[in-house]
Order: sequence, then structure tokens, then C-alpha cells
Amino acid sequence: MSYPFQIKSQEQYEKAYRESVEQPDEFWASVAENFQWRKKWDKVLEWNFKEPNIKWFQGGKLNITENCIDRHLKTMGEKPAFIWEPNNPEDRVRVVTYNRLHKRVCQVAQMLKNNGVKKGDRVCIYMGMVPELVYAILGCARIGAIHSVIFGGFSAQSIADRLEDAQAEYIITCDGAYRGGKDIPLKSVIDDALIGNKKVKKVIVYTRTRTPVSMIKGRDLWWEDEMDHAETQVEKDGVVSFPAEEMDAEDPLFILYTSGSTGKPKGVVHTCAGYMIWTTYTFVNVFQYQPGLIHFCTADIGWVTGHSYIVYGPLTAGATSVMFEGIPTYPDAGRFWDIVDKHKVNIIYTAPTALRSLMGFGLEPLKGKDLSSLKILGTVGEPINEEAWHWYDENIGKKKCPIVDTWWQTETGACLISNLAGVTPAKPSWATLPMPGVQPVLVDENGKEATEKDEHGFLKGNLCIKAPWPGIIRTTYGDHERCRKNYFATYENLYFTGDGALKDDKGNYRIIGRVDDVLNVSGHRIGTAEVENAIDTHAGVVESAVVGYPHDIKGQGIYAYVIYNGKHGDDEMTRKDILQTVTRVIGPIAKPDKIQFVSGLPKTRSGKIMRNLGDTTTLLDPAVVDDIKNNRL
Ligand code: PRX
Repeated sequence: MSYPFQIKSQEQYEKAYRESVEQPDEFWASVAENFQWRKKWDKVLEWNFKEPNIKWFQGGKLNITENCIDRHLKTMGEKPAFIWEPNNPEDRVRVVTYNRLHKRVCQVAQMLKNNGVKKGDRVCIYMGMVPELVYAILGCARIGAIHSVIFGGFSAQSIADRLEDAQAEYIITCDGAYRGGKDIPLKSVIDDALIGNKKVKKVIVYTRTRTPVSMIKGRDLWWEDEMDHAETQVEKDGVVSFPAEEMDAEDPLFILYTSGSTGKPKGVVHTCAGYMIWTTYTFVNVFQYQPGLIHFCTADIGWVTGHSYIVYGPLTAGATSVMFEGIPTYPDAGRFWDIVDKHKVNIIYTAPTALRSLMGFGLEPLKGKDLSSLKILGTVGEPINEEAWHWYDENIGKKKCPIVDTWWQTETGACLISNLAGVTPAKPSWATLPMPGVQPVLVDENGKEATEKDEHGFLKGNLCIKAPWPGIIRTTYGDHERCRKNYFATYENLYFTGDGALKDDKGNYRIIGRVDDVLNVSGHRIGTAEVENAIDTHAGVVESAVVGYPHDIKGQGIYAYVIYNGKHGDDEMTRKDILQTVTRVIGPIAKPDKIQFVSGLPKTRSGKIMRNLGDTTTLLDPAVVDDIKNNRL
């Protein structure tokens, strides 16, 4: 496969950038030519940010799975799409070729059809990192069902809320998942989530851990049985086929829930053509992917990084990926480097939080690991501190591998700001330059272009984007007004990212972090309001306030101030009870690192919680701050 849109030099980057801004229609049409369409588009782009109404490649017809799979079969059918590395390094590696992927995806599509799933239906997927998760996702896309993957660390309550919001009628899950030394009982969590749910018709269960599960008659089905049956339907005389549904360019492809500044996660909607083109374009350019390279994105497919850079981007580009079931520290802190060595990985893409946690183990876990196959390193999800950047550069890349620091969001579909590996320069802890088609601007509180400089002379402001790129969020599921309010109403005619940033005189951007009430804990987005709501459900809690604080490994930790008037003998026990409550309501990822019992919360006169205790002049009761500071944990 060749990528005519791959940028190979700084000059080509500048030219592509200029064209993408000056003649976006021509620019994106020429990129879109490299994909497989049932019918080409009538109009490249129509948009306004007021409603918002954003349509790319209107009139175009396609199916993303034909781009991810079918078009590769003739020339690359026996090439691995995935090399699956299990949680336990002694277990069998599975190699999934494009032919095999095609067969399995056709089977899943048939299985879904057999069970009544139709185009536009919502299918919730709650699975571990097994190849069947990819088959499930692409099986949905093949028949035009909208998948909504939920990360395996979310609780039954979180799943129930998402099922309700998406009005999902089908679920695909596993009996359990292996994560390091733990077995997570996924099906049992789904059973709890379904108590009282009248909408879900079918739950399909793939066997991974063979944990005992309760299978409800008429509702629950085994994946293996259903797939066996489907196999006989899609395979005749050795030929496998399941016709892909013809989709409009702007038909929804998936919903992915993410946290915002309110208590309720939002269902971010991405559509077929724009998302496909954006993930592939950025994959090929940011990582400078070349046919034959082995790409290893360590993210979980439960998050957007896995959707875009394990599933859709690499597959559309006909790449070979490593898909990893486990965690970086199991069975020891050398696990990533074992995988790099074992599969001769060329590109590794991971989170700063993982690097910081591995740095804590020193260089011992690297001993005896051959990392010479590595060519490109990447980071995503949170700002990378210089120390971690240099550790990565020196010890993993041996100072020979460009590092790409990719800034983006669930809502942006794929990378917006990043250097292109080895093509445009890196700058430690800076995401650097915008991708072609991305027009960032820093604004002040009033939406005017920022003029304020920080102590180093860098321009400082809230990061917005002036015009749509193909992978931009289209709506929040079931509530378009929410999408408008959240992203397009803060500043007129701008998409507001929620991040603060700096800009240097060469046009490089450095992302400082969220300026809204969203925390970034180990690269996971968590709303302060969500955690407060969860804590407040605990009996005895009167009120709580949650703030982020700098955490050496997680980037940000969660600090909760809690007014508690329940009868309790022991603060430690109460803390544990509160943690248990948060785990029940959201999931273990949202557990506060510290809980401080206080007599009052630092609220302003208008009732807003003050999350930075520096300036106390607007506080209703400044004495509260002294109490808080004196008893800080
Ligand atoms: O604050 C930014 C941070 O992660 C947020 C988006 O989180 P999420 O939607 O979960 O997507 C994460 C994976 C793309 C952003 O608003 N963020 C993401 N990448 C970076 C980053 N902060 C600094 N540098 C990055 N490279």
C-alpha cells in the first residue's frame, strides 16, 4: 500500500498546511480519493459552528470496514492485521491476518443480523482487550450498527447510565477479563447494570476467563455458539462474504462516552467518512507509517486512543499492530520492552503516566531487552514532563527515535497538534505544530485573541480551533444542544477544547492542561462533578468538593474535601467506605487519592467551589480555608 498523502519533509508540511487552510475542499478531496467509496461525495464540506452543523463528504457512500479490511485482501490477505499479546506472557500469541479478520467480522455481522440488530441500532461493547473486541466493533460497523465501547473499569451504575443514554438494545461482553494479576468479572457487572433495564434484548458473551456466569434464558447467548452458526452462513465453498451495509458519509459510526464539567458523561458521536479519513491521515503522517512496520499502541480500546490508533487508523492504512491484553507492570515492569523485543516493534505509542510509573522501577527491567527495532516513539493523553520525555528518549529510543507528543481529545477523533516523526522537529513537553486542516487560536476569557505572555514570553490562553477538520465531533448523542453549549457556545464561532495552552514564536503549542472542571488522572478524563456526585451518595456525607493536585505518576491526583456528619468511630474506615461508594458509582479509576474531612467547603458567594485556594477574597467564609490548610493530608 502506498500513501500519496504522506508528508515527507518540513517543506511538504508547510505546503500541505497552507493548502489545507486556503483550499480545504480541494485539499481534502485529494486525500479522500485514496479511500474506497461506493459513491463519491457531492460536496466536501458544509459547516457552521453556530448550531453546530458540520458535514464532510456529503452524498458520499461507503462502509468503513471495506476500507479497513476488504480492499487489503487481494494484496495483503495473509499479512497480520494484529499480533495479539495475551496478559500472561506464557499464553499463546494469536496472529490475526487480514483474511482472518475479514472472516470473523463477517461472522459477527451475520451473528448480529441473526439476533435482530439493524443499521442505526446501538450496541454496547464491554469486553477485555481480546481480538474478539475488534471483531465486535467492526462487525457493528459492517452492518451499520452504532457501537459504544465502555472501558472495562467502569461500574455497573456507569454502564446503566450509558445504556440508558444511548438507548442500547444489545450488549457484547465477556465472562471476564484478565488485567495483570486480576480477573475482572465483566458479565457479572453487566448483570448488575441490567437490573431494571427493559430495553436490552440480547447479551452476547464471549468466553475468556471461564468465570462462572449466570446466563439468563431468552436474553443471554454464548458468542461461540452464535459465531459457529454464523460461520456456516457466511462461508460457502471456502468463500467468505457478508455484504457491508452502504452508509452515508455522515451516518454515525460510534458513540464514545467521555467526562465533561457536569456530572453526566457525554456520548460523543463520530461519523463514518470524516473519522475514517482523519484517523488514517494522522496515523500515516504523525507516525510516518510505512508498510511492514509493526505499530504498538498500548492504550485500551475502551478509550478513544484505542479506537483511532489500534482499530480504525492502522487497519485502514493496512498496518500491522500489536494488541496487548495486559498492563505495563505485569508480570513485571519490563513487560512493554519484552513485547517490543519479542515482536520487533517499530513504533510504540503510550501514555506519560505509564512512562512515569515505569521510570520508578529504574533501568533493571530494561536489561537484556533488545529495543533496536524501535524507530518512533509517541505519547498521548496528558502533558509529558521533561524528565519523562528525556527518560523515554535516552533509555527507550537510545536518542535515535523521534518522539511525537500528540495532543487531541475524544471529541477530535484523532491527533490535532503533534510533530510528524522525523519530519517536523520535536520540542520536549510541547505538542508543537497543528496538523494540516487544524487552525488553533489562543483566546482570553472574552474570546479575544490572547495577548498575555507568561514569564518565559510565551503567549498564553485558552485553546480553540477556528474551523472544522474531518474528525471533529458532530453531536452528543440524543442531545445536540448539549454539544453546542459544551463546545461551541463559550466563544463565538470557535470550537473550545477546554485546554489551556502556550504558544512560542515559531507557532509551537504546549498544552498546559484543562481549564474547566475536568481532571486528567493517569490520562483518563474524570469530571470533578461526577466524583462529587458519587461521594455525595454515601450515607453521612453532607457535601464534597473535588480538586486535582499534582501527582508524580498520575499527572493529577484526586483530592476530596468532605463534610461528614454520619456517626463513625474511625476516619480511616469512613474513607474506605467512601472509596467503595465511588467504585460502585463510577468505577475504581475515579477513587480519590486523598480524602480530607472538613467543617466547610471553600465556596464563593455565588456558591461555586473554589478549586484553587490561593486567592480567598471572594470566599463566603475565608476561615474555612485556614481549617482546610491546617488539616491538609
Ligand atoms: O487535556 C488534554 C489531554 O487529554 C484531554 C483529552 O482527553 P480524552 O478525551 O480522554 O482523550 C485522550 C486521548 C487523546 C485533552 O483535553 N491531552 C491529550 N493529549 C495530550 C493532552 N495534554 C497534553 N499533551 C497531550 N499530548
